[in-house]
Amino acid sequence: MTEKLKKVEFGDFQTPLALSSNVISSLGDINSYELIIEPTCGLGSFLISLAQQSIPHEKLEGWEINPIYTEEANKRINKLFEQDVNLVKQQDFFEIEWDKGKFNGKTLFIGNPPWVTNSELGKLSSQNLPEKANFHGLKGLEAMTGKSNFDISEWMLIKLLEIISGSDSGIAFLIKTSVARKLIQFIDKNNLSINNISIKEIDAKKHFDVSVDACLFQASGCDFQQNGVRCEVYNAQNWNEPYKIMGVVDSRLVSNINDYINLCHIDKGSEFKWRSGVKHDASKVMELTLHGDKLENGNKEKVNIERDFVYPMYKSSNLAKEILPPPVKFMIVTQKKIGDETNHISTIAPLTWQYLIENSEKLDGRKSSIYKNSPRFSIFGVGDYTFKPYKVAISGMYKNFSFAKVGLFNDKAIVLDDTCYMLGFETKEEANLVYTLLSSEVCKKFINSIVFTDNKRPITVALLNRINLKEIAIEAGLDHEYVNTFNFE
Ligand SMILES: C[S@@+](CC[C@H](N)C(=O)[O-])C[C@H]1O[C@@H](n2cnc3c(N)ncnc32)[C@H](O)[C@@H]1O
Repeated sequence: MTEKLKKVEFGDFQTPLALSSNVISSLGDINSYELIIEPTCGLGSFLISLAQQSIPHEKLEGWEINPIYTEEANKRINKLFEQDVNLVKQQDFFEIEWDKGKFNGKTLFIGNPPWVTNSELGKLSSQNLPEKANFHGLKGLEAMTGKSNFDISEWMLIKLLEIISGSDSGIAFLIKTSVARKLIQFIDKNNLSINNISIKEIDAKKHFDVSVDACLFQASGCDFQQNGVRCEVYNAQNWNEPYKIMGVVDSRLVSNINDYINLCHIDKGSEFKWRSGVKHDASKVMELTLHGDKLENGNKEKVNIERDFVYPMYKSSNLAKEILPPPVKFMIVTQKKIGDETNHISTIAPLTWQYLIENSEKLDGRKSSIYKNSPRFSIFGVGDYTFKPYKVAISGMYKNFSFAKVGLFNDKAIVLDDTCYMLGFETKEEANLVYTLLSSEVCKKFINSIVFTDNKRPITVALLNRINLKEIAIEAGLDHEYVNTFNFE
């Protein structure tokens, strides 16, 4: 395995001393701890910064799986203490017998664990994994799909949270912010006795040259269970004043508790079912670009087919625009709803059928199991809503989310790809009112109180289906229009 892959396997991003020193200075009186452990200490940045801040070596301990790092870390720390204190021992975190009794004294666990997921490790056939991977007790499909994908730092910190729960010990770790959120939900779901939870954002690009939202996650054991876990969030420029409180309400994590509590009456469920755009997993074949009056596919091949199954389309990048440009891309939409037979295309549009056959290696070779046992050239995320003349749509991919009104193009419905979500309407009036309600300040504030902008897909169908438009109409003083337009009581 190359050095580069080895670094991935062990999540080997050593913390710059400037950052580890900053972290330690921000922790307040850490001398109150009897023992301070850096459990995946690498070259020992945190131990070195602790020593430089005069924490006696008797209180310090380091564990590291890599024997070379273990030796190098000891060399550096011994030099600092001008004696062979050898604080670091070679230890695999996953081999440790985690028994609470071992950590009776007030202990601080500190550091920066490996940021690598079990699926990444799976691809490397790595053994650097905990024995029992399904620690969230997922069942059936959930255990098989992405939901069972976890970051090993999540596993490690859950172990430490279970150890400090109910004690006066604490943890302080540099981790991905998405992992920190999962830990908050784990604390709440498992009623751990933990408080003083905070997220201090860091600039991971600057410190580790990685484009991911990361933070210093801190928590302390306590002798009671919080009713609805709370977490103070600080931005990277100001670790003194939190800019919001994140937390769990009714077993759901919200990103800004104060705003959410004022607007939670909107969290009543959408009257309309949000739907995702068309999924075909073959954009080079199924998405065409118009050049003059000629269509061309993603392989730069001219495509001469009937227009029966060809629809103007928008992708996320289009929806993000202030004013929607006329569509220049088109999609071959082979079905009206999921599971529809497709053979009839051969009679209605033989050129289209021929084109699909010519590209059948790509289309029949699509990896996702959803295409198995489905009619040939199937698509998903399709139904009557796809062909509604007026839509309100939003991209799932962008941090600064905005809704868009999508109408007809040359009297044909405009379809969306699977990075977008939509509501479909028969009339312009309905779409206009819904667009106005969703674009209102109160709706933006509500979404901001529940959205996590560092997620790969900040906006999801699940999030959108929480928004009750009637409640927004009342807040925005448009309840009259709402009742008149939708005859909903
Ligand atoms: C992100 S680095 C951080 C190192 C150090 N804590 C720092 O902040 O500079 C993670 C370290 O964890 C070590 N590591 C990875 N898997 C481990 C395991 N199962 N047990 C112990 N250490 C491990 C890696 O070798 C690497 O040195």
